[in-house]
Amino acid sequence: MSHVVTEPCVDCKFTDCVEVCPVNCFYEGPDRLLINFDECIDCTACVAVCPVEAIFAEGDVPEKWASYIELNKNGAPNHPNISAKKESLAKDKPECKSGARKP
Ligand code: SF4
Ligand code: F3S
Repeated sequence: MSHVVTEPCVDCKFTDCVEVCPVNCFYEGPDRLLINFDECIDCTACVAVCPVEAIFAEGDVPEKWASYIELNKNGAPNHPNISAKKESLAKDKPECKSGARKP
């Protein structure tokens, strides 16, 4: 299994998650992060630190965001690794408030 970054990350990209991942398995797209399925050890540390609750265990991904499973699986290997927090894209965006994009 793996954990999955879903829709609430898109255009917000807070990056708190990368700092707690013990195996550095986050990869960075222009507007979102992706988790590498071959590297995630399902420790769950990232779930609680995401301000917009974008991360789910693969088996718990809400149905409407199910496509993000393949997006993470196929996309992560094509992007650079990220392990240090950086400035978020969320500045003043209403869609990046906690709970703005509910499952
Ligand atoms: Fe990293 Fe753990 Fe989150 Fe997987 S569940 S991405 S290993 S912090
Ligand atoms: Fe995205 Fe949440 Fe990480 S918004 S970058 S999954 S902390």
